[in-house]
Amino acid sequence: MTVACGTPASAPHPLTPALWRVTGRKKETADVTTLTLSPEAGVVPGFGHGQFHMLTAFGIGEAAVSIASAPGEAVGGLAHSIRDVGPVTHALCEAPAGSIVGVRGPFGRGWDIGELPGALPSGTDHVVVAGGIGLAPLRGAVHDLSERHAHDAGRLFVLVGARSPDQIVFADELDAWRANGVHVEVSVDAAPAGWHGTVGVVTALLPKAPFDPVRTVALVCGPEIMMRFVAAALADRGVAPDRIQISLERNMQCGCGLCGHCQLGPLLVCRDGPVVSYGGPLPELLRERRR
Ligand SMILES: Cc1cc2nc3c(=O)[nH]c(=O)nc-3n(C[C@H](O)[C@H](O)[C@H](O)COP(=O)(O)OP(=O)(O)OC[C@H]3O[C@@H](n4cnc5c(N)ncnc54)[C@H](O)[C@@H]3O)c2cc1C
Ligand code: FES
Repeated sequence: MTVACGTPASAPHPLTPALWRVTGRKKETADVTTLTLSPEAGVVPGFGHGQFHMLTAFGIGEAAVSIASAPGEAVGGLAHSIRDVGPVTHALCEAPAGSIVGVRGPFGRGWDIGELPGALPSGTDHVVVAGGIGLAPLRGAVHDLSERHAHDAGRLFVLVGARSPDQIVFADELDAWRANGVHVEVSVDAAPAGWHGTVGVVTALLPKAPFDPVRTVALVCGPEIMMRFVAAALADRGVAPDRIQISLERNMQCGCGLCGHCQLGPLLVCRDGPVVSYGGPLPELLRERRR
């Protein structure tokens, strides 16, 4: 779903932040905090899975942050999970409950999970592969897909990579998804004593996931190098490139196709992405870089 500049109901102009209040805070890991944000105007604008907001820490700056809620669970407030990597994300992670942040959007093209009735045949497998904070833009899609797959012949595989066990985001939700029948696997780059799971890059989890490549739709988000190798491994396994979706990250300024700051090849990532098909023109650049 694409949201053009000028459409958000939350703001008078797409470049003017609306005022949202921090109504909840949760520390996910040492450097990731989930903020629940609620619009002062009272109405949460509609959004799609994998879309993003531009969040303002007033007096410091703006950063693109994905909406981590599913559209159907967004009553009253939206979750944004933020990794503290620099001045803006640090200020947002430190924003106390009750404080005000700026919100523009939602922007961009999100995940296509076949929401329209009959869009995907019954029995479609979904494979979700996330690295680190890359699980944040996928969380809402997994939430809704897990509900759908509880009543459908297709299966849902969630493969998560993290640097170490204490860097796994949404750890409690991974357990809830497992309890709901989702095949959840986690791999860590480095494991302390007592870790009994997989050690290694997230691609190591793919051979262990018994999805049927012919009827698989894959959603991938994480560091660019990880997405390059995951998408290539999925394609090698037989998943059609146009059924592999990846979410690109570029530095954003306007977030809505006005400034050209996020241009990559023929596309503006904020407007034509962040989610793109691995079968499309942009990932060809990623494939080139892998050679
Ligand atoms: C569509 C989109 C969705 C995003 N969703 C999330 C999210 O849900 N949670 C989250 O924590 N972060 C997310 N990000 C990344 C986030 O926007 C950046 O981490 C943030 O802008 C950093 O700003 P800063 O001022 O804190 O740090 P800066 O000082 O600006 O940057 C700190 C470091 O991060 C690098 N960096 C900054 N911006 C980006 C970027 N966009 N891509 C790659 N590297 C970058 C810088 O080069 C530098 O090394 C998303 C980015 C995009 C484009
Ligand atoms: S961030 Fe301005 S055009 Fe994409």
